[in-house]
Amino acid sequence: MTDTLVIVGDDGILARQASEIARLLGQPFSLCDEVPREAQRIFVAVDDVDAREAIIASLPQARLANLIHPRAWTSPDAELGKNVMVGANAIIGMNATVGDGVVANALSSIEHDNVIGAHTFLGTGAILCGNVITGERVFIGGGATVKPGTSIGARTTLGTGAVLVKDADPDSVYVGNPARRLG
Ligand SMILES: CC(C)(COP(=O)(O)OP(=O)(O)OC[C@H]1O[C@@H](n2cnc3c(N)ncnc32)[C@H](O)[C@@H]1OP(=O)(O)O)[C@@H](O)C(=O)NCCC(=O)NCCS
Repeated sequence: MTDTLVIVGDDGILARQASEIARLLGQPFSLCDEVPREAQRIFVAVDDVDAREAIIASLPQARLANLIHPRAWTSPDAELGKNVMVGANAIIGMNATVGDGVVANALSSIEHDNVIGAHTFLGTGAILCGNVITGERVFIGGGATVKPGTSIGARTTLGTGAVLVKDADPDSVYVGNPARRLG
């Protein structure tokens, strides 16, 4: 019998997406707003990234699950951390390395040889071409595209539809095509 997965989340979008993926996978699950002491397997789907990161860090890796949509494609040689969510028709390419807590929304692409820092978020349809490296907690807006071989510093945001063609600094916001630093 498959163990019940506990999805820890509020009423937010991540918890709803996680529940839908679990349902499609035929994975029995329950929703809970606090970490249960006894559950074997947990997926943390709290929207707030600070809270989510803290909960993930507090749990042994063995208790954390990944949720990969049945219509996503993940290369067999990609390395995924824990508590990773991959949405419908998203791609994790060959030899990609994906950190703990990464969320790759529907139709997004983490292409070959990417190294994606923990707790990075890819909006719907975002494309990271090959050999892209991101720091931790990067936020890639929906439909943004990142040129092959580009690096993005930790905690940086790319706006919706941005086209990043040069390395991006940490703790910054970039928008437009070609993407420019805001502020
Ligand atoms: C980049 C972003 C974070 C900036 O938010 P913000 O700090 O509140 O910025 P503002 O809305 O005040 O806009 C500041 C300026 O940047 C411009 N701007 C904002 N977002 C932009 C974008 N995506 N592309 C181009 N220009 C943008 C605004 O037009 C404004 O320009 P102005 O000063 O000339 O009027 C936000 O606009 C964004 O794109 N978020 C991503 C959302 C997303 O894709 N989520 C994923 C869903 S799956």
